[in-house]
Amino acid sequence: MRLCAFDQVWTHARIATFDPRIPAPYGLLENHALAVQGDAIAAIVPDDAPELRRCTGTVTDCRGRLITPGLIDCHTHLIWGGSRAAEWEARLAGVPYSEIARRGGGILATVQATRAWSEDELLKAAIPRLRALVAEGVTCLEIKSGYGLTLDDELKLLRVAQRLRDADPSLRIDISPTLLAAHAVPPEFAGRADDYVSFINDAIIPAVANHRLAEAVDVFCEAIAFSRAQCDRIFATAKRHHLAIKGHVEQLTNSHGAELVAQYGGWSADHLEYLDEAGIEAMAKAGTVAVLLPGAYYFLRATHKPPVAQLRAAGVPLAVASDFNPGTSPFASLRLAMNMACVLYGLSPEEALAGATREAAKALGRGAICGTLAVGQRADFLLWDVSHPAEIVCSLGTHPLVQRVVAGIPDPPL
Ligand code: NIG
Ligand code: FE
Repeated sequence: MRLCAFDQVWTHARIATFDPRIPAPYGLLENHALAVQGDAIAAIVPDDAPELRRCTGTVTDCRGRLITPGLIDCHTHLIWGGSRAAEWEARLAGVPYSEIARRGGGILATVQATRAWSEDELLKAAIPRLRALVAEGVTCLEIKSGYGLTLDDELKLLRVAQRLRDADPSLRIDISPTLLAAHAVPPEFAGRADDYVSFINDAIIPAVANHRLAEAVDVFCEAIAFSRAQCDRIFATAKRHHLAIKGHVEQLTNSHGAELVAQYGGWSADHLEYLDEAGIEAMAKAGTVAVLLPGAYYFLRATHKPPVAQLRAAGVPLAVASDFNPGTSPFASLRLAMNMACVLYGLSPEEALAGATREAAKALGRGAICGTLAVGQRADFLLWDVSHPAEIVCSLGTHPLVQRVVAGIPDPPL
């Protein structure tokens, strides 16, 4: 008798597939088994399927527990030097942001500290941050540069992102690195933003592309950062170097950055508090993902919400991410971001979980690789001790994750 070609099988599970072809909420399949061959999902079948009886691989009895896709954090600034906690303390005490900026606070404070730290120091500080995300079930994340703003310092940050992949064998993770040289105008270029954009285009993007240190190029398209015209110049160069496009857009004002990202066929437009109808239409047409970052909205005490209902009505995919960074979203928790997306932005728990799995995968150009549970997808998944999928989003500070599997390899027991 031919034996089945499964290395490992998880049986007696409830499987929240997030596969759009399965009409149940969460794409949920009851009493199913998930089989893995190599690093991929080989079958998702009912528990009484005959091929399971012929299987010789390792069997894990899930005893009715829930399996979901691995969580994907598609927008983080995980690597930085220094701390901005004192700046937050001052903000809470009523010191205006202009005064904080005058004292050297804000993004540039982190830039100064990050430049002073060595690659090893940055790596050492980033590992526990990554561990915190992983402990909640993150199997794939995006990491941006953007706190270096010189050629050497941006390359340094992206090298740290690369080294994080292999920093600890117990931390299996898929990392998507992004160049965010256009995060702020560095002090050396004060008053000469166009010259800095030329430097990004002539020196930084070609070096990053040459060393294959990033998959995408991001910008901060905002009145206080880079204009739409400047972002257009950067995207044109990124495109020439075959790098994907994404943007921090419409966070504080409407600079029509989302339209620009969509025009370039960008992976995602992120923040979007001030997005208008034209931006929504352009994103819907281009298939650009809307990445919602409620952590920054909450921490900055913002009041203008992104147009979630209109985005939903237009069929724009909605992703949710932590925006983990030291200044505006200092939260190493994608579950918190999902919770905030529900409470503050009105997403359903199903939308929030889809936003941190299926839609986040699309925002990283990985829709065909991960983000759902279906045959052929990489075997990145999580086993949870919850009675309902919404529990993952509803209750924080709990640790319902039982097992994390990346590319078919289960983590050592927690
Ligand atoms: O995504 N919007 C710009 N960039 C970051 C903030 C980074 C910082 O303040 O250090 C963000 O919120
Ligand atoms: Fe950000």
